[in-house]
Amino acid sequence: MVGAISTCREVDIATILDLMNLTSEGISPVIALNREEAGPLHRQIYEGFRAAILRGDLRAGQRVPSSRNLASELGVSRIPVLNGYAQLLAEGYFESRSGSGTFVSASLPDQMSLCERPVTRPASIDSGPRPVARRDALLPGRGRVPWLDGWGAFGLHQPAFEHFPFRIWSSLVTRHLRSPRISSLRTVDPLGSERFRIAVCTYLRTARAVRCEPDQVMIVAGSQQALDISARALLDPGSAVWVEEPGYRLGRAVFVGAGCRLIAVPVDRDGLDVAAGMRKCRKPRAAYVTPSHQYPLGATMTASRRLQLLNWAQTSGAWIIEDDYDSEYRYESMPVASLQGLDHSGRVIYIGTFSKVMFPSLRLGFVVIPPDLVEHFVAVRYSMDIFPPYLTQEAVTDFMCEGHFARHVRRMRCLYSERRTTLVESIHQEFGSMIEVHGAEAGMHLTVTLPQGFSDQEIAATAARRGLWLWPLSPGYLESPSRQGFILGFGSTASTQIPAAVRHLRSILSSGRRESRCPDAQPARRSWPHGCS
Ligand SMILES: Cc1ncc(COP(=O)(O)O)c(C=O)c1O
Repeated sequence: MVGAISTCREVDIATILDLMNLTSEGISPVIALNREEAGPLHRQIYEGFRAAILRGDLRAGQRVPSSRNLASELGVSRIPVLNGYAQLLAEGYFESRSGSGTFVSASLPDQMSLCERPVTRPASIDSGPRPVARRDALLPGRGRVPWLDGWGAFGLHQPAFEHFPFRIWSSLVTRHLRSPRISSLRTVDPLGSERFRIAVCTYLRTARAVRCEPDQVMIVAGSQQALDISARALLDPGSAVWVEEPGYRLGRAVFVGAGCRLIAVPVDRDGLDVAAGMRKCRKPRAAYVTPSHQYPLGATMTASRRLQLLNWAQTSGAWIIEDDYDSEYRYESMPVASLQGLDHSGRVIYIGTFSKVMFPSLRLGFVVIPPDLVEHFVAVRYSMDIFPPYLTQEAVTDFMCEGHFARHVRRMRCLYSERRTTLVESIHQEFGSMIEVHGAEAGMHLTVTLPQGFSDQEIAATAARRGLWLWPLSPGYLESPSRQGFILGFGSTASTQIPAAVRHLRSILSSGRRESRCPDAQPARRSWPHGCS
């Protein structure tokens, strides 16, 4: 299974072309035939293909349509197509592979480098003003930070893929592929499949004490879309939003994209500091929080803080957006009930995801909406992607209803518990009290903070070059001074690899301190809109 996964990660353009070529028919390029003036048809077909190859629209190794199909698409007899193909074969633009068809040559005759040519060309400088939204400049973007896509020790947001029951999963997907519900191939409820919403609701009521009915649940493409829909439904450009400091950058990005003003509210051991938030901005439109497992420092919001937050929301007329992204995994105490379950004034929008319990590329999550806002959210959804895709919803419904989900979560809880214990012990063994561990009680990551004198981003860049994926803490802050540290994922790191990875971290940190010439310098950060008017 591990081998299969690593192979998948290396899929490149050539592989995609190979996969496309497994189909027995190539796609026809645009060839404009002119029957009156432009010379014989076979010449026009030849020129059409040659030009498409020279432009890079057809690439080396790409299958071309059979002469029969092309003739039928162009509305001509096969003879000119066969003659055109013969010329392209003779000149080396095409090659035929016995038994599998005709392809654009792997080595093209006169313009070998054409296959590298980009299909889209940059606009010329005199093409006039091409304005883009100013808000876009404030988004964090995907950037080219070296630690982003690392695969290996401490990789963040990575579950133990090799332990996922892919055999069961593929049988469920196949089941729905083989005999789909025909009506669902045309359309799905904008809230999502009813079966799935019932399954999600049952799970949330039981495991998370969320108060909900299926017609309050909207199925979405992960927490990120849930946040986007919530922002469009509840906020206006200029609305002030409390966000946790430090916090989840991608979550914040949604509010920036919606034109909101971010109010950075510090978190302490009890979670979001409501009193500090009120001092900075008493009446924002909303607060975005991760109360079950604050991201990234890991605090679980205490009961009294939860009540304080709910009371504040009610008196100030604010919404609370609760992001409950990894609460399935708690190791030292019982799961904490959701904030939504304590709310009596319909102010909490509850968001969850399958990214941690299944896998992130599933892009599946849900929002629990207060009943009187459902239609409002549906209108937003309808203007966005209309409804969620059918197939995965059905497969996950069966995955839940047939007990595989609960079994997988139980197994993963044990596995992650062992991994995080090994990680915490190894950190203590290697570093003693030199670095502080935060938030190891839940989830698939923990955070370590560093003493003065280190630059987490510099060290993370060095570490990434050496195959260690440290996610720096400081970019999670909106305001200075930010703490330096790392968010360490342990979901995909086997217990046997953890001690060596921590030793590796120690060796990188030892050189990191010496290399860091300017210990107190704050790394350059984009400026985010914040402050309360
Ligand atoms: C705070 C937080 N929310 C949500 C998510 C998950 O987002 P999504 O469901 O869009 O994959 C993550 C990371 O995986 C996270 O750290």
